[in-house]
Amino acid sequence: MANGNTAPATQQQRRHFNLVRNVATCLLALFVLVGLAVLIAWLVIRPKRFVYTLENGSVQNFNLTDNHLNATFDFVLKAYNPNSRVSLYYDYMETTVTYEAQTVAFNTIDPFFQPHRNVSRVEAKLVALNLALSPSTFKDLRIEKSSGEIEVDVHYKSRIRLKVGIWKSNHRILRIVCPSVIVHLSWYRHFDKIPCEIEP
Ligand SMILES: *[C@@H]1O[C@H](CO)[C@@H](O)[C@H](O)[C@H]1NC(C)=O
Ligand SMILES: *[C@@H]1O[C@H](CO)[C@@H](O)[C@H](O)[C@H]1NC(C)=O
Ligand SMILES: *[C@@H]1O[C@H](CO)[C@@H](O)[C@H](O)[C@H]1NC(C)=O
Ligand SMILES: *[C@@H]1O[C@H](CO)[C@@H](O)[C@H](O)[C@H]1NC(C)=O
Repeated sequence: MANGNTAPATQQQRRHFNLVRNVATCLLALFVLVGLAVLIAWLVIRPKRFVYTLENGSVQNFNLTDNHLNATFDFVLKAYNPNSRVSLYYDYMETTVTYEAQTVAFNTIDPFFQPHRNVSRVEAKLVALNLALSPSTFKDLRIEKSSGEIEVDVHYKSRIRLKVGIWKSNHRILRIVCPSVIVHLSWYRHFDKIPCEIEP
């Protein structure tokens, strides 16, 4: 009599257990397949980091008078894409020169495409025209000017898309910073190359 009641319950439990086991097996198989696909894609694509270096920098028409600045900066960013299968679209690229965290000059570069295994040089001319400086910034800049060189940071911001074969990624923002860039104010045109960092 008691058996009559428990038998259907155990059968139901077993059926339930089987269902859970089948679902778990399917999920596991799916995870393994997805994992394998990602691994194979990674092995085929072998993504490598993009490398950016500030190759040259100079400043002309530098004039610092009455808390105002005139200057024309030229910077050359070397962009190296070491990947053999990944290429990049730069939808635009903004260049900013900052001195003590104050933006002194800004420019936008036209979109360009960088093929795989490619070195591209991005040239930017940035003009500070009668830019008002805070008194402390003006004072520091005047002291650096008399030493013949000034230290600025150069920032790049771009919206990029990656391309692998015919697949294109979503847009993402790429930020590059070239810190502590020394530009000479004199005729002396030597420039020390600066490795730039990709900001997360
Ligand atoms: C860097 O730029 C300055 C000014 O434009 C130029 O005179 C100089 O030859 C350049 N140096 C290199 C190594 O390209
Ligand atoms: C700098 O600008 C001021 C004001 O415009 C001008 O009087 C002065 O001659 C300029 N100096 C140089 C070296 O160009
Ligand atoms: C910057 O250049 C503008 C236009 O040439 C001029 O009016 C201004 O006085 C200059 N300012 C400085 C600080 O040289
Ligand atoms: C990199 O790509 C640019 C744009 O397609 C091209 O002009 C340049 O010659 C390429 N450079 C190298 C080293 O392949």
